[in-house]
Amino acid sequence: MTTGEQSNTSVVMPAPGDAPAAGDADAATGDLIVKLFRVLAPGRNPDVEVSVALARDGWDRVRTPVAWTTLTWTGPDDAEHTADAGVACTFVPRADDGFELFCAFAADDDSDGPQRQRALALARDLGDTTAQMHAHLACALGTAAPPAPPELAAALRERARWAMDEVPELESQLPNLRARVETVLSELAALDRLEPATRVHGDYHLGQVLHAVEQDRWYVLDFEGEPLRPLAERSRPDQPLRDVAGMLRSFDYAAEVGHATHPDWLGAVRGAFLDGYWSAAPTSVPAQAARPGRRQTTLLNALELDKALYEAVYEARNRPDWVAIPLHGIEMILTI
Ligand SMILES: Nc1ncnc2c1ncn2[C@@H]1O[C@H](COP(=O)(O)OP(=O)(O)O)[C@@H](O)[C@H]1O
Ligand SMILES: [Mg+2]
Repeated sequence: MTTGEQSNTSVVMPAPGDAPAAGDADAATGDLIVKLFRVLAPGRNPDVEVSVALARDGWDRVRTPVAWTTLTWTGPDDAEHTADAGVACTFVPRADDGFELFCAFAADDDSDGPQRQRALALARDLGDTTAQMHAHLACALGTAAPPAPPELAAALRERARWAMDEVPELESQLPNLRARVETVLSELAALDRLEPATRVHGDYHLGQVLHAVEQDRWYVLDFEGEPLRPLAERSRPDQPLRDVAGMLRSFDYAAEVGHATHPDWLGAVRGAFLDGYWSAAPTSVPAQAARPGRRQTTLLNALELDKALYEAVYEARNRPDWVAIPLHGIEMILTI
């Protein structure tokens, strides 16, 4: 069984004896990892649907599903329902969990020495990998018309109000918060348009990426989206920058949990990640420029704020000792 942050149950099944490697031989030992979904919902599970689509599109940074299983049952209305119940993928041997890796980089930082250089190189490569993921998602699963900017701003405003009503520390510790949030959202609402919507990862953070040591390559896992959201919502096209915002927040968590020893560590890895993202985006996502324009930075800022406000609610409910992490993040986002 695997341990660590996960919402399903995964079991590693060793290859029998001298079985040949399954899938692409350089990445796999023949071992499989089987994930059983804890929440079943009628229809395709996005983890199966999206991983299969990306692998078929030729992307080599997602594990290839080799088998999946569905359950079929008859409902009270006598109609037949089917749900994906589990998926088996090739196992990535000798790989580091992205979150543990960056916590260690933060803890052992040497300012401008080899540790810092390694952290920046891996963050840049993760940005590049993320841009590749978005290009393949658009190519394999299509694009959709985005909402008008005021519509997205209104949805984020509603979530911001919900977070501030739910977590009183937000307003008591961050002076003038409502007005500052409103400034970010009005800038979003004033944009001429948004980027085309695509399928996104949906729950993108450092715990969802593995760095394969020998191949020196990132793999992206777990396309299920936020497991507690209804399935239809998780499969809805969204702004790809939502994933970028999720990963930026995750670097903040790594800096806090790893007690980053240098105050500029977080800014440096965030910068390297974004650099990798924006420089890989132009050839793959034609709508985006090599350097982010005002549309991208305004949208990204608003989405990062939205994510940090959501985290404040999550932490207040589940890990009150950690509320300081998103509070600190919100202050940082509003100060940039
Ligand atoms: N193909 C794989 N190779 C190696 N380890 C994996 C693989 N897939 C998942 N894991 C490990 O299992 C953990 C949980 O997998 P994940 O797909 O994120 O499940 P969950 O939906 O439960 O979060 C990952 O964080 C990773 O450590
Ligand atoms: Mg996961």
